[in-house]
Amino acid sequence: MKILAFKGSPREKGNSSIMLDRFLDGCKKSDGDIKTFKSGELNIKPCAGCLRCNLIKRCSLRGDDWEQLSSEILGADIIVISSPVYFFNFPSELKGIIDRFRSFIHVRITGDGLIHTPWTEWRKKFVLLLSMGSPDENEGADIIKVMKFIVKELGENNELYTFNGKRLAVRGQIEFDLNKLKSLYKKLQIPVKLAEHDHIRNRELLSHIYSLGTELGAGGT
Ligand SMILES: Cc1cc2nc3c(=O)[nH]c(=O)nc-3n(C[C@H](O)[C@H](O)[C@H](O)COP(=O)(O)O)c2cc1C
Repeated sequence: MKILAFKGSPREKGNSSIMLDRFLDGCKKSDGDIKTFKSGELNIKPCAGCLRCNLIKRCSLRGDDWEQLSSEILGADIIVISSPVYFFNFPSELKGIIDRFRSFIHVRITGDGLIHTPWTEWRKKFVLLLSMGSPDENEGADIIKVMKFIVKELGENNELYTFNGKRLAVRGQIEFDLNKLKSLYKKLQIPVKLAEHDHIRNRELLSHIYSLGTELGAGGT
């Protein structure tokens, strides 16, 4: 299995990065071929909006990492995106990469909408690992909506799995033990009584992510 992973958080040991590491730990059980990119360290120009991709079947922009990255994307079986939620959206570097996905698709305008047709056949698993400060997972709903749309338009044989880490403020918090989480909540003036439930939820979330990594890494589901 070829696994391509994007780390969208600028924070070392950020919560979304921990979610990603857990997923990849699961994949490693099956000896997958894993490549990880930090989106902030890639040189990806913002989409120029020229729409020439609709004619030339590739992005017209040159002089950045897209040419290599796009072939990695096309060659991957599993694409994992880990990301914090920034104002209901991806951080800008990840959004820049997502916009460049436009070049994988032909778009035709019809009388009542758009028809999207990918240039090549896509049969991939997508995994979206979101981390947010809010306890309300709707903060990540716009990101999920965009990813659902892209994954579907790239082909009906694709699949998307999403996970939301919630009420996560500081680095590494998703892995805090109960006492550390309680002290943090006290410091942040979050009701300490929520810590017990959140601690279990964080642990279960990481465990589900690990299990999915194990399954997908082995070519399953
Ligand atoms: C610029 C910025 C914007 C943010 N916007 C949101 C938001 O809209 N909703 C939310 O729940 N959290 C928001 N947060 C909080 C982060 O999503 C949260 O701390 C997340 O757990 C960070 O993930 P990381 O540890 O992987 O970096 C924002 C944080 C920053 C720095």
